[in-house]
Amino acid sequence: MSDIEERDYEEYRVIEDLGGWRRTHTNNQLTAANIGETVCLMGWVQFRRDHGGLIFIDMRDREGLTQVVFSPERNHDVHERAHALRTEYVLAIKGEVRARPEGMANSNMVTGEIEVVVDEYKLLNTSETPPFSIEDRVEVGENLRLKYRFLDLRRPSLAKNFIIRNKAAQSARRFLDNLGFLEIETPVLTKSTPEGARDFLVPSRVNQGQFYALPQSPQLFKQMLMVSGMDRYFQIVKCFRDEDLRADRQPEFTQIDIEMSFTDEAQIQDMAEGLVKTMFRETIGVELPETLPRMTFAEAIRDYGLDKPDVRFDLKLQEATDIFRGGGFKVFANAELVKVLRVPGGGVLSRKEIDDFTKYVEIYGSKGLAWIKVKENGEWQSPIVKFFSDEEKTRLAELTQIQPGDILFFQAGPADIANTALGYLRVKLGERFELIDHSQYAALWITDFPLLEWDPEAKRWVARHHPFTSAQPGQLDTLDSNPGEALARAYDLVINGNEVGGGSIRIHTPEQQEKMFAALGIDDQEAREKFGFLMDALKFGAPPHGGIAFGLDRLVMLLTGAKSIRDVIAFPKTQKATCLMTEAPGEVSNAQLRDLGIRLREKKKEEA
Ligand code: AMO
Ligand code: AMP
Repeated sequence: MSDIEERDYEEYRVIEDLGGWRRTHTNNQLTAANIGETVCLMGWVQFRRDHGGLIFIDMRDREGLTQVVFSPERNHDVHERAHALRTEYVLAIKGEVRARPEGMANSNMVTGEIEVVVDEYKLLNTSETPPFSIEDRVEVGENLRLKYRFLDLRRPSLAKNFIIRNKAAQSARRFLDNLGFLEIETPVLTKSTPEGARDFLVPSRVNQGQFYALPQSPQLFKQMLMVSGMDRYFQIVKCFRDEDLRADRQPEFTQIDIEMSFTDEAQIQDMAEGLVKTMFRETIGVELPETLPRMTFAEAIRDYGLDKPDVRFDLKLQEATDIFRGGGFKVFANAELVKVLRVPGGGVLSRKEIDDFTKYVEIYGSKGLAWIKVKENGEWQSPIVKFFSDEEKTRLAELTQIQPGDILFFQAGPADIANTALGYLRVKLGERFELIDHSQYAALWITDFPLLEWDPEAKRWVARHHPFTSAQPGQLDTLDSNPGEALARAYDLVINGNEVGGGSIRIHTPEQQEKMFAALGIDDQEAREKFGFLMDALKFGAPPHGGIAFGLDRLVMLLTGAKSIRDVIAFPKTQKATCLMTEAPGEVSNAQLRDLGIRLREKKKEEA
């Protein structure tokens, strides 16, 4: 449209108020059944097509689109004014529902059979031209989308995620309420709760030099509620963890947090399965299997390398440590663990692809990615077979049953690195060879987790789940002799290779809790300082109790098929933990710092 025409219509851009108009329908409701009705719709201008004679507008709201038509025959004045409408203007229209002309129906839209011919409209607001167009397939960087998140959220595919998220949360609330769980809020300004990440700290003005920690989870509060006799608790609650961010991790995320008294693993798992099955059924109409399989942590690591196995496809890792022990290829001969993965038909991988996989596994600490391809004539092609003896080759062929056209991938090194790296490579290969059926939801329990794990940086044993998890019977007493072997009464729920929930039966006597702290090298004084209230509470008749927490964001990712956790959180943080819309975190004034008794060690460089 030329400048002259622009100016001509300037006078029509008069913003009006609703004047008592009420919506009769959303923009995703009208069908052939409504033909002939007079309706009132409100929403945003998605598209405007000006065909000289007729002006068509797709009107958008959260729910969908409706085509509205301004026709000079119907109302000359209204049609004239409609020339001024632009993308993202906010409108209210009144008009009549009519069938689209022969051949113009759009079967991809709920409202595709009809259009609304406008009798009257109100311009409720104008809009500047948005920095990107509000469509599902936006060709813009995520940073721009996050800066203008309020526009990004207008996109139908994103809006849909929040409709599903709401359904999921309401479904969880109903389910738990029906079973007698009380939704109880717990503090956000609190003391450190150890879940294995760094704390976010909040300085106290009233108590200078002292800090609150934001909860990594409400773990200790929910245990306190059990001691207080609340019996069954749940909360849909924000948790805060200062850790490295990934596609499925945010610094603040939401848990469906649950705790119950007088219970055991089987009862908690039953309840948790019921909850997840109900959420899948009520939000996306998917029936999960009646009984979910169970796999021990040891089996998961052995076969899949990860404690969150994606069992939608069959490839399994195998152990080849013994075959190479003391042999000619030193990388394998001296490694704590050698794991091998056979990929049938994997011989088609190019050098470039193998190089990319080699880079990929480096993220998990891998020092290299050895491979062997078997050519059609049976010959082995590999940078490393020259180091292998005939016996090693025979035993490897026997172990893996390798066939012409296949590839073997190896990871050698410290056990956790070899398992993790090959485990993640397995998932990548599953995608590369399209072994994953994306219409399937494979849910299973991982059980029998180790109680402790070695922290190589701190050089000490730490709780694998958290320090309040109870050991399996008899295992606490052997903690001193063999700390790595003790098993916990802990369990995780895994769906399609995602850890969606985890929990445990808790320690409920002071004696056992003291033993646990001792095993973790936490002395009495430290235990008193950090967890004095817990130690006190356990002395006053704490009932046996346990629970679980689900990552709501991760469940919603599965329910919506979102690739990134950011697509299911309304206002997420970037990989660098910033909010591009509000520009948090930000600097604060010297006066605020003075109030808090805080002086910055290095003054931020002044803007030049
Ligand atoms: P856990 O630490 O396993 O257990 O957390 C429970 C679930 O929360 C989700 N989750 C996350 N989601 C997004 N971003 C993150 N940074 C993040 N971290 C965890 C995962 C995980 O399974 N208090 C215990 C629970 C209990 O014992 O009852 C706890 O927090 O889906
Ligand atoms: P190098 O002897 O370092 O040249 O390694 C020979 C081959 O073994 C290369 O293909 C490496 O990628 C691979 N490799 C090296 N270290 C490891 C390891 N720890 N695990 C598996 N493969 C490795």
